[in-house]
Formats: sequence, structure tokens, C-alpha cells
Amino acid sequence: MRFPEDVPLLTDGVVTLRAHEPADVEPAYAMCQDAEMQRWTTIPVPYEREHAVNFVTVVIPAGWRDGGFWAWAIEYDGRFAGTIDLRGGEAKGGELGFGLAPWARNAGVMTRAIQLVLGHAFGEFGWHRVTWRAVSGNWASRRAAWKCGFRRFQTLPDAALIRGVRHDEWIASITSDEERVPQGNWFTIPVVEGDGIRLRPLDERDIDRTAEACADERTQHWLSGMPAPYTREHAKDFIETRQEWAAAGSGVSWAIADAADDRLLGNVSLFEMTHRIDKTLAEIGYWGHPEARGRGVMSAAVALVIKLAFTPIEQGGFGRRRLVLFANEPNSASRHVAEANGFTQIGMERAAAPLRDGSYDNLVMFDLLKTEVR
Ligand SMILES: CC(C)(COP(=O)(O)OP(=O)(O)OC[C@H]1O[C@@H](n2cnc3c(N)ncnc32)[C@H](O)[C@@H]1OP(=O)(O)O)[C@@H](O)C(=O)NCCC(=O)NCCS
Repeated sequence: MRFPEDVPLLTDGVVTLRAHEPADVEPAYAMCQDAEMQRWTTIPVPYEREHAVNFVTVVIPAGWRDGGFWAWAIEYDGRFAGTIDLRGGEAKGGELGFGLAPWARNAGVMTRAIQLVLGHAFGEFGWHRVTWRAVSGNWASRRAAWKCGFRRFQTLPDAALIRGVRHDEWIASITSDEERVPQGNWFTIPVVEGDGIRLRPLDERDIDRTAEACADERTQHWLSGMPAPYTREHAKDFIETRQEWAAAGSGVSWAIADAADDRLLGNVSLFEMTHRIDKTLAEIGYWGHPEARGRGVMSAAVALVIKLAFTPIEQGGFGRRRLVLFANEPNSASRHVAEANGFTQIGMERAAAPLRDGSYDNLVMFDLLKTEVR
């Protein structure tokens, strides 16, 4: 292909993708000074003007002439806003890459640019699959990909290498026959208050108290699947994977915080929300910080969660019809939380809950139907 003559102009009327030109060097250089660009991409740091000159005037034209790397300049609001590219890599497929100047972010610009490029990849290029990858934690990138229909999100441990440091990597893909619309629910986690507690999303502030609560003897006894010894790293992983649950629509996990000082008192979650057959089911699970036990905190938290669980998705809830809850038979505190919230004991799995000493507890099964709650 010839550059720039053969670079197709793609537009949806708001965002235009065009061939790069020398005037893009300055704004590209400015964009790469941004901390997010440096954190999430493999650009050199410090990023010098020469890097931008080389990328815009040498690397990109060569990519079109030689094939294998096809990059477009993103024009938005009448000026250069970033770059989006396709890279070959597999037969009839390839990878997507992108970066946007900070001033243009969170206005749907990259979502539009991705849609245009996917149209071209599956149309003109005749590709079967486009793959997206991002360093784990790059939520803006993941959400833009999700909005365009990327699916099968997975985490590849240590797969990304950024300036010599390994990071977990997210990967997802879309094929030519798949709809370019969001797949599944991406739950936002509502903040609710009542009875002196606040349910809010978990975040980094909760790492230490999570580690304390999960290393506690009673938590370790009843939740025998918890890592032991339980470290700060485990707490960090716990919080990150709970954020991924919400993005995948598979679960919602709240910090139970003290309404007065926001201190973490425990955790309550809805999960198993993408059940193969019953999409209206969720399991409820929890643990409390040792400091907050014995004063009704968990019963109050579960009451708030039940209300949200049964509220329709369009009204800010989670559209559930049936909740299930499991407790080890001797765990009277946990059974109390279920009973205090109107759950019915529906059965008992015999010798079903492994303990760390090699023995097994019976597991009591509870459920609660939407029709039973006023
Ligand atoms: C990733 C990037 C290109 C996104 O561009 P953008 O034009 O802002 O993307 P869009 O507005 O189309 O979509 C981003 C979505 O993520 C959301 N978002 C932003 N930050 C978020 C966060 N921390 N958590 C969750 N969602 C977030 C936005 O609200 C938006 O969703 P919405 O439209 O439903 O509100 C831009 O942030 C960027 O250039 N980042 C630095 C470079 C980079 O990460 N490149 C990609 C490497 S894989």
C-alpha cells in the first residue's frame, strides 16, 4: 500500500480516522507525557520529541507500506486526539491498540474509533477475529472494548511486559460474526446506608482491614478455602477480583463500612449471577471483621443487599428472583444472619464443607424468594 494515499478515511460523523501527518508530531508528543499513557502502554519513558517524530513519520508510514501495522490518527473536535491501530499476528486476524489524549477522554471517542476500525478489519481486511489486550487494572480501556462487543475476558498472569516489569494482562476478542454491542451486565455498585452502616465498593483503603479479617481465626475456620497464612497481597487480589466480578456481571461485592468513619467492618457479596440456566439466581456470602461481630452488623448488611438483589436492574438493583445461602451446620452466627433475614432452611448437604483438620461439616442450605419479601 502507498502512504498516505491508500490509508482509508473512516468516519461516523463525530470521529474521523485518517492518515497521520507531520503536524501530528506535536500533539502525539504531548499526549505521551500523560501518566496514564505511560502507565498502561509500552511507550518509552521519558518520552522525547524524537520518539514522536520517529513514530509518526517513520514507523506508521512503514507499517502501511510493508503491511502488518496499520495505524490511523483519530480526529475529534477538529484536531488530532490520538492513535488507533491494527496489528497482524494471526491468519485472518490481529490485535487492536489505542491511545487518546487526556482532553478527549470519557466522551465515547475511543468507543467510536474502535467501532470504525472493527468495521474495517471485518470488512476491507476480511479478518475473522480481533483481539484486545490491556494491562490488568486499565478499566477505561476494558470498558471501551466491552462497549464494542469484545467478550471472553480472561486474565493471563504476568503476560504483559512494560519497561522490564511484568504485569497481569487482560485479553478479550470479537469475531466477524459477533454483534458489536456490550455482552452481559457491567454492574455499577450502588452505595446504600442504614442502621449505622454503609455498603460501598471495596477499594485500596480496605486492604489492611481485609487482611486482618481474613487472617482471623474464626474466618479461617469457617471459610476453609481462604489462603493461609492470609497476607496483604491476598487482600489486594481479593479486592481486584471483586471489581472484575462486577465488570463481568457475575457478582457484586460490597465493603460494609462504618457509616461514621468509613472503616471496613466486613464484606458481603452476591455471586453466581451468570448461572447457566437460571439468570435470576444469586448466592449470598459474607465475612465480618472480628471487631464488628456480635452487634447485628451482618444481619443489617444482608438486609440491605436483599433489597437491592430483588430490585429490577432498570431501577438500580440486580433483578434477582431467588437467593441462596450456605452455612456450616455448627456456624450458629452465620445461620442466625440467614434466619434473621427471612431465609428458609431447605436442606442439608451431608459432610460437604471441608475443614482444615481434614474433617467435614454438614452444610445447611437456605433460600429466599422475591415473592416472600414485601
Ligand atoms: C483507554 C482510553 C483510550 C479510553 O478512551 P476514551 O475515549 O476515554 O474511551 P470511551 O469514553 O469511549 O470509553 C471509556 C469508558 O470507560 C469508563 N471509565 C473511565 N475510567 C474508568 C475507570 N477507572 N473505571 C471504570 N470505568 C472507567 C468511561 O466512563 C467510559 O465508559 P462510559 O462511556 O460507559 O461512561 C483512554 O483512557 C487512554 O488513552 N488511556 C491511556 C492509554 C491506554 O490505556 N491505552 C489502551 C491500552 S490497552
